[in-house]
Order: sequence, then structure tokens, then C-alpha cells
Amino acid sequence: MHKILKKVQLCPIVYLMEVEAPLIAKKNKPGQFVVLRIHEKGERIPLTIVNSDEKHGSITLIFQVVGKTTKLLSKLNEGEYILNIAGPLGKPTEIEHYGTVVLIGGGVGAAEIYPEAKAFKAAGNYVIGIVGARTANLLILENELKQVCDEFYIATDDGSKGYHGFVSDVLKQLIDKGVKIDLVYAVGPTIMMKVISNLTKPYGIKTLVSLNPIMLDATGMCGVCRVKVGGEIKFACVDGPEFDGHLVDFDLLMARQRTYLEEEKKILEIYEKMEKS
Ligand SMILES: Cc1cc2nc3c(=O)[nH]c(=O)nc-3n(C[C@H](O)[C@H](O)[C@H](O)COP(=O)(O)OP(=O)(O)OC[C@H]3O[C@@H](n4cnc5c(N)ncnc54)[C@H](O)[C@@H]3O)c2cc1C
Ligand code: FES
Repeated sequence: MHKILKKVQLCPIVYLMEVEAPLIAKKNKPGQFVVLRIHEKGERIPLTIVNSDEKHGSITLIFQVVGKTTKLLSKLNEGEYILNIAGPLGKPTEIEHYGTVVLIGGGVGAAEIYPEAKAFKAAGNYVIGIVGARTANLLILENELKQVCDEFYIATDDGSKGYHGFVSDVLKQLIDKGVKIDLVYAVGPTIMMKVISNLTKPYGIKTLVSLNPIMLDATGMCGVCRVKVGGEIKFACVDGPEFDGHLVDFDLLMARQRTYLEEEKKILEIYEKMEKS
């Protein structure tokens, strides 16, 4: 049982939770994630560890409400408990001194680039952050990211804040201006990661993406999270979740992500009906 120490609503659909998890806090490295279960019959969902505080024995998770489990999680309050949390899982990011590192976060991906920004900065890199959202009030961690990035850009689909357009447009402008980029790290919707990887490939810019296939056991046993990278089958939970964006078969990943769409929609409808009655 893991006590919720802090809960903050960051925007209409995104919540931050600081949760008691001393053993995970002790071991966690940027790029790793946990798998949690809210109750005995609940499904397991993976969430990135955004921050860990060894002194307080806690980890911070930031999640977007998309379906039944994330909705249930958003209903839990400070002082309540999450049944189980397994982690840290996945391979940590290889933090090195590359030179100039561009970190790109789409939607809730902004939370996932925060620990990366801190780590790449601490390793002596010049860090450029680009975050995007559909509209201004869905932007998260703007101030926190501004503090750790040397340069910081915002893009919104509707132009309500920052650049009117996509994060990939901002990256293209930097490339066109002749900024020498040594590494691009992108996390967000799969289509965004695909567009960014296609953009950087002809320039030979090393590009890492953090993939979010459906996961089940997250131990490399079930095969549910399999992705094709460089023609080989990899399991995102143990071989990733980060991979070379130039080698990922994004179309296959997107098709696999849609596998249970109808069932996910149905279960959310049933849950919302039960909630109202
Ligand atoms: C390594 C990893 C790290 C992640 N980190 C974060 C994070 O920090 N913050 C965040 O908001 N989201 C994160 N996600 C996505 C998050 O796990 C899903 O949003 C969540 O599982 C949705 O559950 P649901 O029941 O609310 O929605 P559902 O109705 O079940 O699904 C809605 C969407 O989530 C996807 N999804 C469903 N179940 C899973 C699953 N078990 N694993 C992965 N995707 C699933 C579905 O394909 C669908 O697109 C991460 C995913 C992975 C693989
Ligand atoms: S989630 Fe089962 S092998 Fe990765």
C-alpha cells in the first residue's frame, strides 16, 4: 500500500501525485517508470517517475486522465492509498555530455522530459526545451521546465500561447536557423514522435523516443508491449521504453495501440454510468 502524500490538479485533465514509495525512490533513474494497480481487480498501468525524493521516501507521478483507470486514480485523495506500485522499471536514459540536447514533450510528455532536462543539464549539456499542447490551459510544468532549460519554447495547436503550430515546427525552425543539435529526445503522442524522427533523420541528428505501447506484466514475459525496432522485435518494458526514433516502426505501434480501443471506450462508458447512478 502506497500513501498519497500530495495531489495537485495541474490542468483540467492532468494530475500530479506524490506517493510514498521509499524503495523505488532510492533506486530510480531518469527514463524509468512504475506499474501501479489501484485495487484487487484493477488493471495495471505504467506511469513515468517524474521525480523521486530519497529523503522523504516518495516518488512523483503525473498522469493524464484518458480512460477508466486514470479516472479512478484521479479520484483518490491525499491520505488515501494506491494498492501496489512496482518499479523502477525499464532501462534508464543514458545521460551523457552530448553538447546541445533538444527535449520535446507533447501533452503530458512535458512531465516526462522534466527529469531528463535536469539530468542532461547536470551532465553539462546546453538544454533546449520545447513543449506543446492543444491549447494554453493544457500546458503543464511551464515554470519548472523554464528553470532547468537554457532555452524554452511553447507551441499550441490553436495558437493560444507561444508558437501557433506543432512542436515539430519549432524544431524545424531551430534546424533551419543552423542550431547545431547533438541529440533530440521526444516523448508524447506516437504520431508526434514519428513526425520528429522523420524530420531529424535526413540531418543525421541522433533521436531518442520514449514509447508508450500497451503494457501488461512489464517484466518482459507477456509480449504485449512488443515493438519493431530496426526490423527486430523488442519489448518496450525491458528493452526500452527508449529507442532510436529512426529505427522504430511507428505505424505498427499505432496499430497495436488501437487494439482495445472499443473495449476501452465501453468500459469507460459503463464506469461513467455507474458513477452517475
Ligand atoms: C512506459 C510508459 C510510461 C507512461 N508514462 C505516462 C505518464 O507519465 N503519464 C501519463 O499520463 N501516461 C503515461 N503512460 C500512458 C498510460 O499508461 C496510459 O494512459 C494508461 O495506461 C491509460 O489507462 P486508462 O485505463 O486510464 O485508459 P484506457 O481506456 O485503458 O486507455 C486509453 C489509452 O491508453 C492506452 N493504454 C491503455 N492501457 C495501457 C497500458 N497498460 N499501458 C500503456 N498504455 C495503455 C490505450 O492504448 C489508449 O490509447 C505511459 C505509458 C508507458 C508505456
Ligand atoms: S509488458 Fe509484458 S512483455 Fe512488456
